[in-house]
Amino acid sequence: MLTTEKVTEVAISAAKEAGEYILGHMGKIKKISHKSGINDLVTDVDKSSEEMIVKRIKETFPDHSILAEEGGKSGSEKSGFTWVIDPLDGTVNYAHGFPFFCVSIGFAVEGEIKAGVVYDPVRDEMFSAESLKGAFLNDGKISVTGTDKVQRALIATGFPYLTENREANLELFRRIISKAQAIRRPGAAALDLCYVAAGRLDGFWELNLSPWDTAAGHLIVKEAGGKVSMTDNSPYDIFKKNILATNGHIHEEMVSILSS
Ligand code: IPD
Ligand code: CA
Ligand code: CA
Repeated sequence: MLTTEKVTEVAISAAKEAGEYILGHMGKIKKISHKSGINDLVTDVDKSSEEMIVKRIKETFPDHSILAEEGGKSGSEKSGFTWVIDPLDGTVNYAHGFPFFCVSIGFAVEGEIKAGVVYDPVRDEMFSAESLKGAFLNDGKISVTGTDKVQRALIATGFPYLTENREANLELFRRIISKAQAIRRPGAAALDLCYVAAGRLDGFWELNLSPWDTAAGHLIVKEAGGKVSMTDNSPYDIFKKNILATNGHIHEEMVSILSS
């Protein structure tokens, strides 16, 4: 029988294997290509990491489908089970040797994410969650902060690759920075979400994300007691383009600042 425990076990081992590979190849990238534009990089390491993860999943679950950043959709959707994979989130950081990147693997049943893991190989931190079972960092349970005012909050965001799409978020950045204690732009959306879950950030928003960026991380935030919606507070799913994830306490204030 398929259990979320088994799914998590496979996801953790795939993320760990890929993460170790990524870390081992830091500074040894052989090939960098550009995707949607000059800032949107993909390296041979992204591709090999994805191949390793997909191979590992297929060994155990040959009939499940895959939605992966580099390879797109594969496998039959008949089973209703889909793995949503970002083999290296934070590629620009990685290519520059800036040590903030991760592997993200989410597992969906009939389109709903039921389990997810995000692995940071630099710090050997494995974030994980299963639906209704809480969120974990390695073996310890994690939870969001109790900060209840944006004025005391540490908030993160990210900017899209296409420079012409950055303007919209600059306006939101301007609004939040004039209210929050501080803003960070770490550069790996999946890990940013886990930092909200672990209480290292009070909130995170970003425009123009893709399903593999948020599949695992948004479940980890919810399971850590946080709240996830679109920036206007409408319901979020991984195919929506923008996301707001907070500790819950500052959610409405963030929505009102972002939508004002
Ligand atoms: C990117 C990172 C970045 C975010 C971008 C994403 P990638 O993913 O998560 O923080 O700002 O929007 O595309 O390309 O490094 O997997
Ligand atoms: Ca990504
Ligand atoms: Ca990626």
